[in-house]
Amino acid sequence: MKWKKIGDILILDNKFDVQSNMNLDEIANKHNVKTIMKVDHIYGTKREPVIKLLYGTETETINKENNCLFKLDLKKVMWSKGNNNERIRIARLVEDNETIIDMFAGIGYFSIPIGVHSNAKQIYSMEINPNSFYYLNENIKLNKIKNITPLLGDCKGLTPNYKADRIIMGYVKTTHHYLKIAVDSLNKGGIIHYHETVPEKLMDVRPINRIREASENRDVEFLKLNTVKKYSPGVFHVVCDARIN
Ligand SMILES: C[S@@+](CC[C@H](N)C(=O)[O-])C[C@H]1O[C@@H](n2cnc3c(N)ncnc32)[C@H](O)[C@@H]1O
Repeated sequence: MKWKKIGDILILDNKFDVQSNMNLDEIANKHNVKTIMKVDHIYGTKREPVIKLLYGTETETINKENNCLFKLDLKKVMWSKGNNNERIRIARLVEDNETIIDMFAGIGYFSIPIGVHSNAKQIYSMEINPNSFYYLNENIKLNKIKNITPLLGDCKGLTPNYKADRIIMGYVKTTHHYLKIAVDSLNKGGIIHYHETVPEKLMDVRPINRIREASENRDVEFLKLNTVKKYSPGVFHVVCDARIN
């Protein structure tokens, strides 16, 4: 049986066939969970899950990762276990007194670890989905973070109101449409973390070229290409780190 545990909820792999004679009660007890479910798919720009409940009814839980607490309702907002290394990698890069914009903050996937593990000056966390925004606020309280400003709305409209030393663009598929706005809000010498799903053969060229294009006359220094996870056959979810002078 393939599964992942998020807080006290067990998520079974979609390909796993649940037989009618399976004792879900026993499985729940064995894994010490209150709920067993499957996530059929995640849809739309707000990244909303479509789930199937197999056992139990409660879908809200608190997941602990890298010394951070993430409260979330798995019926309403997504959790990508495969992004755990990236969540802590970014927090460890943050230097003292940085101002940060997290353009696609969700429930605080990046903002919370930054708040917990760094001495950033201010983190502006933007989120368009009211359900995710609710849990972003919950997680700020739960982790007792004082330097996150949660902002509900489209980061396209919100970002130009702020300037930052580091901008996180933790979203895939259409992220390049937001690059120009991000670059315009980045201080000289600031760093951008630009996510993209990219065919393997374009990995070394497309993300950095898109950043260069959006940066127009500014000098772009390529820092790192980090593979987050395999997205689909031949396609990878990557993050390109670049300094823009
Ligand atoms: C779910 S996160 C991506 C996952 C995350 N990178 C991780 O580590 O698990 C992306 C978030 O961006 C939000 N979003 C999408 N478009 C947006 C926009 N234009 N402005 C602000 N937030 C947006 C979605 O609602 C979603 O919560």
